[in-house]
Amino acid sequence: LCFICLRRKRRPGEPPLVSGWIPFLGRALDFGRDAQAFLQEQRRRHGDVFTVHLAGKYLTFILDPLLYPSVVRQGRQLDFHQFADTVAPPTFGYPPVRKGFPGLSEQIIRSFQLMQGEHLGVLTESMMGPERGRRHEGMEDMREDFQRFDRMFPLLIAQVPIGLLGRTRAVRSKLIDRFLPDRMSSWTGTSQLIKTRSKLLEQHASLRDTDKGAHHFAILWASVGNTVPACFWVLYFLLRDPEALQAVRQEVLEVLRQSGGEFSPEKDLALSREQLDSMVLLESSISEGLRLSSASTNIRVSQEDFSLRLDAEHSVSVRKGDVIALYPQSMHMDPDIYQDPQSFRYDRFVQDGRVKTDFYKSGQKLKFFLMPFGSGTSMCPGRYFAVNEIKQFLSLVLLYLDLDLQPGQNRVSLDYGRAGLGILLPNADVRFHYRLRAASQSP
Ligand code: HEM
Repeated sequence: LCFICLRRKRRPGEPPLVSGWIPFLGRALDFGRDAQAFLQEQRRRHGDVFTVHLAGKYLTFILDPLLYPSVVRQGRQLDFHQFADTVAPPTFGYPPVRKGFPGLSEQIIRSFQLMQGEHLGVLTESMMGPERGRRHEGMEDMREDFQRFDRMFPLLIAQVPIGLLGRTRAVRSKLIDRFLPDRMSSWTGTSQLIKTRSKLLEQHASLRDTDKGAHHFAILWASVGNTVPACFWVLYFLLRDPEALQAVRQEVLEVLRQSGGEFSPEKDLALSREQLDSMVLLESSISEGLRLSSASTNIRVSQEDFSLRLDAEHSVSVRKGDVIALYPQSMHMDPDIYQDPQSFRYDRFVQDGRVKTDFYKSGQKLKFFLMPFGSGTSMCPGRYFAVNEIKQFLSLVLLYLDLDLQPGQNRVSLDYGRAGLGILLPNADVRFHYRLRAASQSP
């Protein structure tokens, strides 16, 4: 009875409300099972804008991508960083940044510029440099710990206390310990980004060494948590499509040839930023892989009661503390925008030899059509670096190796355990054969 009395009621001007019968949880279980299917079902019933009660919060989903700009440009009333500062610190194990450390949040955001513009070239090229020093010792052990932590990541983001998650706290401490200032001081070949972050963390006397380590650990997670599954998907889709594989390999060989460097398996290979930029088919394959595998939610928290203007005719009332959510997977899978959206088409994002950027819905050109990296204030600062790294990885694999999927396996599909948080993992392992390619071999 108490629950029924306390249940939220839709007010005039508010979007349709989807609330379940389970107190607190609302529709969290349905959403967690298959977010995309759940949202499509609600869209059929209520249209493109509706509010869902999920685990104690009210999220207003805006599913029409033509309306995305109205949310992305709405900076004053809709905030991302407050939400990030509630969720990230307990997940990675550092104290909230905005409350206790004046200026730190702004310093951290500024440091992200070291992954872009003029800095991107150095960072990208350093990825292909030979290993120096003893920094990569114990990587296998670290990878296992990372995976253990990563499996718990959705629960930590959902704010389940780490004490309830078995050995997760101990695993996280081991990972954080690798980034204690004493240990990092003996590293060589450290990027400007990491050096700058170490320095700025040093300026805050009340941060303990483990807090600093936890900040570095968060960057480790951000830099590989999505990039590794993205590499997997693009390679997997290419292996399933021999024509695509051949075309992309041909492009990589051609780019090398044009810059005067024949490929030879005996020589170390370095690909410059300019060479990577000219690989449009590879870039399109990556965009297509990201389109098919990403399921992030773009979250903004309303700072006050206000009326959110969606377009010339429509506005919705939003309450303070409510969340406005974009779920780009529904756009990525929209047949009106992407013909035959379930298939991998390696050249979908190429037109006349250039990167294609015009996509339409209901005859109108979309400002946002591919959003694996988020949007506006919460857009991934590592996005250019990430695409370059994936290009480097795939170029190396395609140049050095011949790969085939082992016959008789079922196709793997997306595991929705991480829906809302980035690139989804595959729901099973994939077995493949590989052998070294000869220098003279045709694509
Ligand atoms: C944030 C996606 C690779 C660093 C984000 C966000 C997304 C995203 C969706 C926004 C999160 C949100 O809205 O809550 C991806 C994908 C990647 C990738 C799909 C690879 C395919 C990288 C790499 C780095 C990186 C290589 C390099 C260190 C970050 C950081 C943030 C972030 C630091 C937080 C920014 C902030 O708090 O303002 N990423 N990312 N990401 N990403 Fe990436």
